[in-house]
Amino acid sequence: MINRDTIDNIITTARIEEVIGDFISLRRRGVNLLGLCPFHNEKTPSFTVSPAKGIYKCFGCGKAGNSVNFLMEHEHFSYPEALKYLARKYNIEIEEEEQTPEQLQELNEKESLFNLNLFAQQYFTKTLFETEEGKAIGLSYFKERGIREDLMHKFQLGYNPRKRDAFSEYATNNGYKREYLIKTGLAVETENRLYDRFHERVIFPIHSASGRVLGFGGRILTGEKNRPKYVNSPESEIYNKSKTLYGIFFSKNALISKDNCYLVEGYTDVISMHQAGVENVVASSGTSLTHDQVRIIQRYTSNITILYDGDPAGIKASFRGIDMIVEQGMNVKIVLFPDGEDPDSFARKHHPSEVEAFISKNAANFILFKTKLLLDETQNDPIKKAALIKEIVLTISLIPDGITRSLYVRECSSIMTISEQVLLNELNKKLRTRFNKDSSQKEIEPEPIVETQISAESQSPFDLDSAEYQEKEVIRLLLLYGQEILHIKKSADDLEEISVIVADFIVHEILSDELEFENSLFKRIFQDYIAGRENDVIPDRAWFLDHSDAEVSKTAVNLVFSPYELSQNWLKNNIQVETEESRLKMHIEHTILAFKSKKIEKMIAEIQQKLSNAISTQEQKSLMTSLLELKKQSIRINTRGLGRIIIR
Ligand code: UTP
Ligand code: MN
Repeated sequence: MINRDTIDNIITTARIEEVIGDFISLRRRGVNLLGLCPFHNEKTPSFTVSPAKGIYKCFGCGKAGNSVNFLMEHEHFSYPEALKYLARKYNIEIEEEEQTPEQLQELNEKESLFNLNLFAQQYFTKTLFETEEGKAIGLSYFKERGIREDLMHKFQLGYNPRKRDAFSEYATNNGYKREYLIKTGLAVETENRLYDRFHERVIFPIHSASGRVLGFGGRILTGEKNRPKYVNSPESEIYNKSKTLYGIFFSKNALISKDNCYLVEGYTDVISMHQAGVENVVASSGTSLTHDQVRIIQRYTSNITILYDGDPAGIKASFRGIDMIVEQGMNVKIVLFPDGEDPDSFARKHHPSEVEAFISKNAANFILFKTKLLLDETQNDPIKKAALIKEIVLTISLIPDGITRSLYVRECSSIMTISEQVLLNELNKKLRTRFNKDSSQKEIEPEPIVETQISAESQSPFDLDSAEYQEKEVIRLLLLYGQEILHIKKSADDLEEISVIVADFIVHEILSDELEFENSLFKRIFQDYIAGRENDVIPDRAWFLDHSDAEVSKTAVNLVFSPYELSQNWLKNNIQVETEESRLKMHIEHTILAFKSKKIEKMIAEIQQKLSNAISTQEQKSLMTSLLELKKQSIRINTRGLGRIIIR
């Protein structure tokens, strides 16, 4: 039990931005800090930390609390553990009463597993450095591999003796339960006896992001062929392979400061890279990265560089896996190592300065790399080239950010010497199919495989036929921010500000230009807002998420949780956006304008169509008048923004 004074002391000393900053990368936004929420999947930051109030809140998933809550939620600490963690971080001495055996028993199962793993790690390390067998076999193996002692200590490497039950016996004698020995996988039970899973192996402990031992990897020492080279802990209540990255505890700070993550294959690669002074490195442990592992990396950086030790043919097999990383909004680069080298062997053979230099010199953007590699294989065969276009466009279509997508379209079109328009058309088809798939439950016909014509002229112009994208953005704004209040000026030279509700403002803007939605689901959602406005109740997100019409609620869910593209625009164009509110105003203005100009553009196209078929001069005249009116409106929108109201 920690006494009350200590608790108060801890809570008043802890600075929330420092506590959370150890786990996720935060950027200052006004008086608050903003980052990607670690509790739900998002690509645009809505996780807000308020140093003044000492709390965090995610506007996406609603999770909120103070430093202690954060640690309990994020690190799965118990309350006392969270306090102890903070005490350690801030060098506060804990005044604690001794725990009774009863209290010890009450430690929950997870704690018992963690305790046992810690006990095991200490035993393995001690065995490695302090026993004859450990030194003769384990330590000499690591030395032969060129691992320095300071690195062995840092990574808490160890050795499990040859005797089949050395550790199991030692742990049992020290009061650790059989049940937990089996659950952690440290021991395996055969005919009612416990044997060490890792006997006669060197040990690599696997740490959580906060440094607790989740499990182990054990490597045989000799060229022995009849036992597997590595064995790993099985999954347990505390060890979930697909949510664990080897090395994350030791790389966290470097991931943030270098704003890049090197991904390697395994234990030895991570350690050798550290030894060469490269610390922003993690390993996925053999398999391709999982969704959850990408999310872990994303807490620290959105750049990942895959250090790949295979040949080009081998890497082709992992393209799909890498697409998934792209889809999560990461910028992916690839480094191919020379023949037969992996990061471990390369780092051992070269001077540390050469390692970093080699990587930065050879890092190739994944999408461009993929394009070039596949292009080499087409050898100007038109069928193969058409397949290549589909393949590359598929990857580009996964990028959540629209501007980044168009930059890739440009680059790839020049690599492939294919017009940008062809790629854009293909890309749009993909995006639209995906959008439809997202916003309704209907099955989409699988697309026919290869039948693209490689000619720019035969394709219809980019996205002219649909305003769906713009409609979607307006609805998304309503759903996300409809209830917020904005302070705006009625005109540029007005000094006084008035308060408006976002939903009111948007509905007003669209109705006053008599614009309508084409997409029937969006139309229904918009009508709920019109009705709400008349009855003075603005529907909130919950209203739509539980909507009586399942289609509507599905659409709303998708919109609320889909990534937000436009915000990147202002950053890239260097527009200063100081506060949350001005950011929102900017976004609303941008979205409504895009919606209006798209609608007007379409009306103009329709009238022009009618005009070319019009027979009577009377008809032509009236069409011309409408056309002129629309053009004026279009010019106004494109040059003067919303006109009536200055919202910035
Ligand atoms: P390696 O086969 O290169 O392992 O796999 P190594 O220990 O470096 O062996 P040698 O000395 O080159 O022959 C690289 C990484 O892949 C993981 C380990 O993490 C290892 O560090 N791995 C490899 C496994 O997890 N299981 C395996 O069976 C093999
Ligand atoms: Mn190796």
